[in-house]
Amino acid sequence: MSLDALKREAAARAVALVRDGMKLGLGTGSTAKHFVDLLAARMKAENLSIVAVPTSEATRAQAASLGIPLSTLDETPELDLTVDGADEIDAALSLIKGGGGAHLREKIVALASKRMVVIADETKAVATLGRFPLPLEVIPFGLAATQRNLTKAFAQAGVIGEMKLRIKDGAPFRTDSGNLILDAHLGVIPDPARLAAHLDAVTGLVEHGLFIGVASGAFLATATGIKTLGNVA
Ligand code: A5P
Repeated sequence: MSLDALKREAAARAVALVRDGMKLGLGTGSTAKHFVDLLAARMKAENLSIVAVPTSEATRAQAASLGIPLSTLDETPELDLTVDGADEIDAALSLIKGGGGAHLREKIVALASKRMVVIADETKAVATLGRFPLPLEVIPFGLAATQRNLTKAFAQAGVIGEMKLRIKDGAPFRTDSGNLILDAHLGVIPDPARLAAHLDAVTGLVEHGLFIGVASGAFLATATGIKTLGNVA
């Protein structure tokens, strides 16, 4: 089975969690895109009444094109369920997100939800986070100074690595909120909670891609079937 087919399998399992009347958070990325597709199909087939808050402009456009009723966290500040992909997931359900640059809104939406369920193919499962470069969304003002403080935060947290400004189409990548992304190549993050605490103290960093204690469960699609982590009930 292709990686894309595995992503769709995981998404299909998450779509089965949706109940009529739910307020949903819609993730971003290639796996979440399958979820949005399948959700729209199920809503149509079963005439479900759902309202959804997207985590990016890309997801907003996709959901709108499929006729999914959309809301914002201002109108709908508490959601029942958010379903989103991940770049890495460990056994404790700690995540690295932000490969698509959407982790700021993804975290806001996930934290506004009673539960967050991750959908991913098995390549995202790791014993220790950090092989995937950690996305750091930063304010453009004072970038070099913020970068120095991030380096200090890494040292305090016992990790080391280079940060690279994310470039897209030959220019600095801009998030939906107009910020920049530094990708931190750390290799291993032995204590993600410790690193998150040090990063949270850096002014100029808007949000990092570590999601600790945010996801309640996960569907991991493997070649031999779906593996469930945590609580997906
Ligand atoms: C978006 O910024 C990310 O957090 C995505 O959720 C993550 O990169 C997973 O994307 P894929 O499903 O495309 O792997």
